[in-house]
Amino acid sequence: ATATSLLEKDCTSITPPYSKLLDNLAIVRKVIGQRPLTLAEKILYSHIHEPEWTLANGGIQRGETYLQLSPERVAMQDASAQMALLQFMSAGMSRCAVPASIHCDHLIQASEGADKDLQCEICEPKRSIVTNQEVFDFLESAARKYGIEFWKPGSGIIHQIVLENYAAPGMLMLADSHTPNAGGLGMLAIGVGGADAVDALTGTPWELKAPKIVGIHLTGEMNGWTTPKDLILNVAGRLTVRGGTGAILEYFGPGVLNQSCTGLATVANMGAEVGATTSTFPYTPGMRAYLQATGRAPVARAADHAASQGYLAADEGADYDEVIQIDLSRLEPTINGPFTPDLATPLSKFGTFVKEQGWKDELSAALIGSCTNSSYEDMSSVAHLAHQAKKAGLKTKVPFLATPGSEQIRATIERDQITSSLEDIGATVLANACGPCIGQWKREDKQGEENAILTSFNRNFKSRNDGNRLTMNFLASPTIVTAMAFSGKLSFNPMVDSITTPSGEPFRFSPPQGQDLPAAGFTAGETQYYPKPVPEPQPEMNVVIRPDSQRLEILAPFPSHFGESSGNERGLELPPLKVLMRVRGKCTTDHISAAGPWLKYKGHLTNISENLLITAVNDEGGEVNVAFDHDRTSGESETDTIPNVAKRFKARKQPWALVVDDNYGEGSAREHAALQPRFYGCAAIVARSFARIHETNLKKQGILPFWFVDKVDYTRIGAGDTVETVGLADLLEGKTDAIISLRVTRRDGEAFEVPVRHTMSTDQLKWLRAGSALNHIRAQLTA
Ligand code: F3S
Repeated sequence: ATATSLLEKDCTSITPPYSKLLDNLAIVRKVIGQRPLTLAEKILYSHIHEPEWTLANGGIQRGETYLQLSPERVAMQDASAQMALLQFMSAGMSRCAVPASIHCDHLIQASEGADKDLQCEICEPKRSIVTNQEVFDFLESAARKYGIEFWKPGSGIIHQIVLENYAAPGMLMLADSHTPNAGGLGMLAIGVGGADAVDALTGTPWELKAPKIVGIHLTGEMNGWTTPKDLILNVAGRLTVRGGTGAILEYFGPGVLNQSCTGLATVANMGAEVGATTSTFPYTPGMRAYLQATGRAPVARAADHAASQGYLAADEGADYDEVIQIDLSRLEPTINGPFTPDLATPLSKFGTFVKEQGWKDELSAALIGSCTNSSYEDMSSVAHLAHQAKKAGLKTKVPFLATPGSEQIRATIERDQITSSLEDIGATVLANACGPCIGQWKREDKQGEENAILTSFNRNFKSRNDGNRLTMNFLASPTIVTAMAFSGKLSFNPMVDSITTPSGEPFRFSPPQGQDLPAAGFTAGETQYYPKPVPEPQPEMNVVIRPDSQRLEILAPFPSHFGESSGNERGLELPPLKVLMRVRGKCTTDHISAAGPWLKYKGHLTNISENLLITAVNDEGGEVNVAFDHDRTSGESETDTIPNVAKRFKARKQPWALVVDDNYGEGSAREHAALQPRFYGCAAIVARSFARIHETNLKKQGILPFWFVDKVDYTRIGAGDTVETVGLADLLEGKTDAIISLRVTRRDGEAFEVPVRHTMSTDQLKWLRAGSALNHIRAQLTA
């Protein structure tokens, strides 16, 4: 492996098919009229699967219409890729329907620096690699079998690699929560769960409610200490963590034009913090320069042409659902937190804010990098401060950790002596991975102690970084984080305050200066980290899963509830279902499938299912993680944990139902929350209402979501009751207006019918009949 400079890449597979996209858009425009469109609408509508469908269904209402989309690419990180690939494998396809990549970044633990944590070849075990070896082996073998680009541990953070290699103006792609980072290249990159990634991998149209479009009009120019990070910290303060929900943030105006592509990526990255679907910008000269500098001049040329056809910017007079005006020249550096990214305080008021809260004026650690802020511009700006400090004889007063976003960044900053400048002032340079940003920080000090850290990351929820709920994480630009590390005080304002040097002189930083792109170009670094572009699938490859693995397990297809082998004697009605429990109140995907220590079992459905509903409240009795087994056999207790009772039902081959409250499954797209009940034999969930994404996930796994017509009926059904569907057979036989109800037989013998409704489309009914969406795909392939 040698360090190499970047050559122009073969861009065939990464250039969006602009002429096809423009054709699609023309078809959609015929329906919606020639009204001016926002950029986000152009990108979304040009990716509608079979745009003629739109013609037949009469138009698009933002915030109303469900769009069926065809994303062009999928990227997956090592934690969520496990279940996505296990599901993809169960569909029986020989290759992915769209180009995809896997990135090993979330499972790398940061402790003593990149060498010991990851890279030492000879003397030290590669700690993170050894611990997660079987997961990496599985991912790599699956990648080879299905022709997916595999980025090894140490290659970098998914979103930085996507920006450097795959992102392109006008593209639509899916990946995980901070993938909107790629919006810095003028595209729509949307964070999804594994089940949605599987849709794209299998070529199933991916559904999205047409988002509202919030326009952010930028004027003026940033100056001095203000950076793009301060722009998004300010936006987070204005919009709050929910303010972008169901919307795309589309920036426009003269203030966009003079910003670097990587700066825009930072802004787009943190759109996730206000709940936005994604963020985007019109195509700029900075994007063209970044594409050229990263070996993708052909993409830049194609984008130039698409831009000349009006594709890569909003139409004049485009209509936004809301417009926010920001004058960049008036922006001040901002610090957000603790514990929520929308608590924004201007730097000049931060010291007073800390005092008012009664917190210690003490910084305990400073961390820069992550997918949000590890660009060449970020690192060279920080190095400019480091040079100044070194000249004054200063070193950082607190541990100072830097995470390069990719091997390309690591190698380039090493060559340009930025790394040595950081190490000179006391920095530890960690592996090219998520590390402390995702809790992979083996922090020995401050456990159980209230303390404050400053980071250039994007999220600051409790326990996210070091597992200590008392650690207050404040978010700021990398330059503010760095400057404050020299003072060790939260009240220090580097714009106006001085630090005393070892020789007793007052020292004040001059504003940082960085370069957006390296003068000598990027260098690729260690070529061992780079996958072959567009690898051909190797069907003979065995996917590596140890039979005794506790972390990975082949996903057996779920059996259909119908047909001869199901043992269901009711034809196209569901078999009689036993009610497992009535869940009270808020039940998010976290209640259904808890995270934390369970995350290591993401690829092992049997093991992770042990956490099913363990924080849910049973409405009959009000206790958490308690279920009643009224059909227990001798030797079994009547009361047990929810997963244990679900396991008993499964062992008895007793299909079951859940009765749940309002907005069941809110929170995230976590597919485990649908897979796990299905794994134990759940066939239907009857809700006062469902969170939309979770409802779709249930349908994908072959669970039928029913809505109470009268919400009062929720209280009439309890554990141990039997429910039988009435009218489902008519629906499955094509009678789309069939009325469905549930015949309930209570444990005391009382029987009554409860009217319910459903939201199953014709396609979704096929999934139900087949047992799951993936079963349906597999059946089609073999038909
Ligand atoms: Fe990784 Fe943190 Fe980004 S977990 S992908 S560095 S948000």
